Amino acid sequence: MTYETILAEHRGRVLLITLNRPEVLNALNATMAGEIVEALVAAEIDDAIGCIVITGSDKAFAAGADIKEMQPKGFAEVYVADQFGLWDRVPMLRKPVIAAVSGYALGGGCELAMMCDFILCSDTARFGQPEVKLGIMPGMGGTQRLTRLVGQAKAMEMNLTGRMMTAEEAERAGLVSRVVPSAELLDEALKVAETIAGMSLPSTMSIRDATRRSQEISLAEGVRYERRLLQALFGTDDKAEGMIAFIEKRKPVFKHR
Ligand code: CAA
Repeated sequence: MTYETILAEHRGRVLLITLNRPEVLNALNATMAGEIVEALVAAEIDDAIGCIVITGSDKAFAAGADIKEMQPKGFAEVYVADQFGLWDRVPMLRKPVIAAVSGYALGGGCELAMMCDFILCSDTARFGQPEVKLGIMPGMGGTQRLTRLVGQAKAMEMNLTGRMMTAEEAERAGLVSRVVPSAELLDEALKVAETIAGMSLPSTMSIRDATRRSQEISLAEGVRYERRLLQALFGTDDKAEGMIAFIEKRKPVFKHR
């Protein structure tokens, strides 16, 4: 499939989505939003894909929603079109998604990265929610996901001032899982994604589902939900294979990958 604003390529069992509007630091316009969602939906129903990586360029993962596209719009237009509403589809998809971030991840760019299951970043990464400087506010989850990930104090400061966080601070704050040298970021993200894609899909999808649900329901409900999913996995061929392979001291060959 050929897109106008992204590149989508199969790397083994991984779909690599590269945001590709380098001339505007991958500013997220309506076309790009539609194409990212389309590529993710296609990966969801593609048996050959077990994990997705979303990345940008060395300079920018994405510098936010496209300001030039938003500038002429008024309330009625964005309300009727439910501007940014399409992005709600991303966290609802079920296969694991990794954000590999180098350079700027600002505004909607930071929010897109936070919609992914986790963020790997390079030492050049800069995260921020600068919407306040434009007289607006985050609209793709910046006040919600950032607060859950780094806590109210840091999220409030970031959202109210628009200041950027370095990769080191983002790792300390729990926004990213790991920081790697810039030149190694993509290889490392693809390696991690390939590892995940080599596992049993019912297992990785259930882990993702239960982990995400931890942000929405109580601890007791979450633990019960987790246990039901674990019990359900006892019904899969891959559970049988995984355990027998361990006992026979060999690598498992999962059927549902
Ligand atoms: N939208 C549209 N164009 C953008 C853009 C954006 N978000 N970010 C950068 N660009 C464009 C610039 O206009 C510039 O284009 P021209 O060459 O045609 O002038 C080009 O990308 C390169 O940018 P700069 O010259 O500004 O590059 P820099 O290295 O000097 O600065 C930067 C980099 C600090 C990231 C700066 O570009 C910047 O502040 N960008 C805007 C960041 C921002 O405010 N993002 C939030 C958007 S609102 C949002 O995302 C809403 C939401 O929550 C959904």
